[in-house]
Amino acid sequence: MIFTCPVCGEPLRRLEKTCACPNGHSYDLAAEGYVHLLPPNRMHSKAPGDSKQMVASRRAFLQGGWYEPFSDKLNELAAECVPAPSPVILDAGCGEGYYTGRLREHLVSRGLAPRMFGFDISKSAVKAAAKKYGEIFFAVASMFEIPVQSGSADCVVNVFAPIVEDELNRVLRPGGFLILAVPGPRHLFGLKEILYDAPYENEHRETRYRGFRFQKRVAVPLEITLSDGDSIQNLFAMTPYYWKTPVEGSERLKNIKKLTTQIEFDFILYQKV
Ligand SMILES: C[S@@+](CC[C@H](N)C(=O)[O-])C[C@H]1O[C@@H](n2cnc3c(N)ncnc32)[C@H](O)[C@@H]1O
Ligand SMILES: [Zn+2]
Repeated sequence: MIFTCPVCGEPLRRLEKTCACPNGHSYDLAAEGYVHLLPPNRMHSKAPGDSKQMVASRRAFLQGGWYEPFSDKLNELAAECVPAPSPVILDAGCGEGYYTGRLREHLVSRGLAPRMFGFDISKSAVKAAAKKYGEIFFAVASMFEIPVQSGSADCVVNVFAPIVEDELNRVLRPGGFLILAVPGPRHLFGLKEILYDAPYENEHRETRYRGFRFQKRVAVPLEITLSDGDSIQNLFAMTPYYWKTPVEGSERLKNIKKLTTQIEFDFILYQKV
């Protein structure tokens, strides 16, 4: 178990119904099997992170298989760098668990016995993840203060979640790997063309992070065509544009029954120095 007590920082032990630290702090395991490690005084809103509705849209969209090529590429990259036989893998900002769940299956199919953990600040996301992926241990926690033992992970995965480089570095063992997914310049451009009068391309993300050695950047370009309104709305609801788009833009999208858009993920692989 790599999670730590958010009060005193000591390692937690998983008991039947709780997780407890040696100093007597204890955290209930939810019915779905996850643990809530985000102290109330560090929650900046009542329900931080993705809302229940966004989580449901993300789950529905991802289960449609549209992003499977990205998940496959992530699996391939992770499989190349984790040590046998029981790598410790942490999905930081795991959402509803799609990538973590598929990564576990992939590693198990290659004869490994990974010890997998995930956390996200959204309780709705973690609840959905824990319910579906019972072999992975999930926690509600923040990227800004990850309640995980220093040097405990062989590989950390971060797919489109906030990046706090010092924390991601701290939880990795020396020589461990970080896999980041970042949007490429034309990610979702077809969607943005409908939402905005003057859509802009994403900036090319900086690839240097403190304490890491850059290994490689792998682009996974794809074009998808969604031909039903529900999938289009689900895709919209899992993007940051959902909050930012002016009403006219989202109204325009509601009337669209077929959407072709570029999807562009870049995976960036780093090694902790
Ligand atoms: C774009 S979603 C990606 C989720 C998942 N990795 C996926 O690709 O399906 C970003 C996630 O980051 C989470 N998040 C936002 N701020 C966070 C923070 N400070 N700490 C941990 N997670 C955070 C959100 O709740 C959300 O689930
Ligand atoms: Zn404690």
